[in-house]
Amino acid sequence: MRRRFRTLLLAIIAIAPLAVMAQKDMTKEERRTEKRIESLLKKMTLREKIGQMNQVDNWGSRQQLEEHVRKGEIGSFLNLPSDFHELQRIASEESRLGIPIVVGRDVIHGYKTIFPIPLGQAATFNPQLVEEGARIAAIEATADGIHWSFAPMLDIARDARWGRIAESSGGEDTHLDATMGVAVVKGFQGDNLSHQTSLAACAKHFVGYGAAESGVDYNSTFIPERVLRNVYLPPFEAVAKAGCASFMTSFNDNDGVPSSANDFILRDVLRNEWGYKGMVVSDWSSVTEMIAHGFCTDRKDAAEKSANAGVDMEMVSRSFIDNLEQLVNEGKVKEATIDNAVRNILRLKFRLGLFDGRDIYGDKSVQYSAAHLAKAKEAATQSAILLKNNGTLPLDNDIKTIAVTGPMADAPHDQLGTWAFDGEKSRTITPLAALRQEYGSDINILYTPGIAYSRDRRTEGIAKAVDNAMKADVVLAFVGEEAILSGEAHSLADLNLKGAQKQLIAALAKTGKPVVTIVMAGRPLTIGDEAELSSAILYSFHPGTMGGPAITDLLFGKAVPSGKLPVTIPRMTGQAPIYYAHNSTGRPASGRETLIDDIPLEAGQTSLGCTSYFLDAGFGPLYPFGYGLSYTTFKYSDVKTDKNEYTATDTIRASATLTNTGAYTATEVAQLYVRDMVGSVTRPVKELKSFQRITLRPGESQTIQFALPVSDLAFWNRAMQKVVEPGDFTLWIGGDSNCRQSVKFRVE
Ligand code: NOJ
Repeated sequence: MRRRFRTLLLAIIAIAPLAVMAQKDMTKEERRTEKRIESLLKKMTLREKIGQMNQVDNWGSRQQLEEHVRKGEIGSFLNLPSDFHELQRIASEESRLGIPIVVGRDVIHGYKTIFPIPLGQAATFNPQLVEEGARIAAIEATADGIHWSFAPMLDIARDARWGRIAESSGGEDTHLDATMGVAVVKGFQGDNLSHQTSLAACAKHFVGYGAAESGVDYNSTFIPERVLRNVYLPPFEAVAKAGCASFMTSFNDNDGVPSSANDFILRDVLRNEWGYKGMVVSDWSSVTEMIAHGFCTDRKDAAEKSANAGVDMEMVSRSFIDNLEQLVNEGKVKEATIDNAVRNILRLKFRLGLFDGRDIYGDKSVQYSAAHLAKAKEAATQSAILLKNNGTLPLDNDIKTIAVTGPMADAPHDQLGTWAFDGEKSRTITPLAALRQEYGSDINILYTPGIAYSRDRRTEGIAKAVDNAMKADVVLAFVGEEAILSGEAHSLADLNLKGAQKQLIAALAKTGKPVVTIVMAGRPLTIGDEAELSSAILYSFHPGTMGGPAITDLLFGKAVPSGKLPVTIPRMTGQAPIYYAHNSTGRPASGRETLIDDIPLEAGQTSLGCTSYFLDAGFGPLYPFGYGLSYTTFKYSDVKTDKNEYTATDTIRASATLTNTGAYTATEVAQLYVRDMVGSVTRPVKELKSFQRITLRPGESQTIQFALPVSDLAFWNRAMQKVVEPGDFTLWIGGDSNCRQSVKFRVE
């Protein structure tokens, strides 16, 4: 109770100017929209209002569905119903008030032209490219009549067992997530939401869903308010400020309160603190699932709790349409609450231009256009991460024979990744197809899958793969995960390669031929053994439609890898959750800890090094966040700040010299990290605050400059206030989260 009271007080202090500003800052167009909303609202019956709050995927027979539309009982369709044209005509011409229907669909990483999974796009550290990809998805999806996409997914994901890590816009990192989330929103929504090609964005899942206990999907989360505010909420706040049209509640209960009834996040934070004017939709049946959670007694109770907490539209489960009228009549839900929800829904429809002659369908000829495919290839190229290279890559152009193997070498469906409903595998170019097309006439390509699919345990095919390897100069082994092994409801308890893939790599390595392992997966996998056995490792996640040509260019050096890990890759599954921006224990590991094999027999019970680590996995990950190699090498030097001391309103000008010390023109992602050395609460050992992509020719040097407002160092402190606490800070600039070159400064 005390906490709520204090939070509210803070909220009130923070909001007052916001609310005033919102009025003052409204454009003429926005003021006109608000007037139209009010005049429409006045004409609506309670039933019609509640109808707007109802999103359905289907509802009875076609005849019944049309009747519901005619009666104004459907506000939105989840997915495009067949002959949507006719249903929209009925809504606009035959329903009493002519309110059009808004159609939402999961357009997650492309529509027809599939881009790399969001986690792969995060690896580009290129928000401009992510924005362009989202723009293309919007152009293609709106051509089919879709108005609203359920993306970006902003769930911070620090546990690779969780299958939906694949969909995360920024992987484990708050700053990356916020940056990429804003890029997606801009790309979808364009300059003006009413444009024919603009797609309304939906920030999901609000909030904390990615922190599911033990990585098992839908599981409970236990995120204290401070961590919520410091880690999980900032990406949502960033997209709210960037004009994201809608938010979706998450499935999880956090500390016992399911998100679809969490008035603290939906009202106190989202509406009151952030002044958010967009629309909030529940997740699929997440309102009525509160019964299974043990939070609601029945559908009526669920509708009451959810509407009162601030859910505007219910996805699919129809408890609102069945119960809200009665709940209003009983005084359990105020009509004013319904009115506010309807305002938010109508605002979305007005903003989308649905009342103002937006065409139902757009120009379908743009789908899979050459420009779209070229952009998808660029994204796939930039999303691949070179994790190891002993010099085998790039491949020599006058190589004679290549052995291509592995279940992902020619898996057109699987390389599209999770949640790619509309991409067609017939349009996918696999690595095998691209290699044959580009090099088939000059190089002898010997192909056999070795094993048929990633889970396949049968080992008979491995002999043929070994046979091919013996005849080849180099082996390209494409392993990973089928698309269905990641994504919603696809959590894994073991992050090792599945099926007989480990045996395949081990057998290939035994031939003594250089093995280049390409991992196509929806999540970080524990590939330590494979990394040891391979000459090179390229991690491409699920790269989408154009994955094959992108990987081929990288393998042959037509493109140079520049992707960086948006997530930590653990050595062993048991290290999960694992992330670089952790707090320090009182006994941090030194890196010199005794591991299991070095413990003397019958050693007495000691606490060994007395530090925080696993006996069998050590302390560190296999590869740290931000890591990724190039065909060239980069050197960082002269990391400095313009001053030693700053005040709260200053901007820190930090710089470093970056030199391309290798033989290839290449792009590096320079990363700036900060640690607040002592705080009123413990602070992460490093936090990414900024990054830049810089392209340099061999031998070229550049001074890279970062401007970091001191206000970016603010965090929610012991007193639950967002402040920059004075004191000492360390700032690093380097090529990954393990970077060592640093400078100290103070904030007074
Ligand atoms: C459930 C998923 O959690 C959500 O992300 C998605 O948008 C909806 N289903 C609609 O398909």
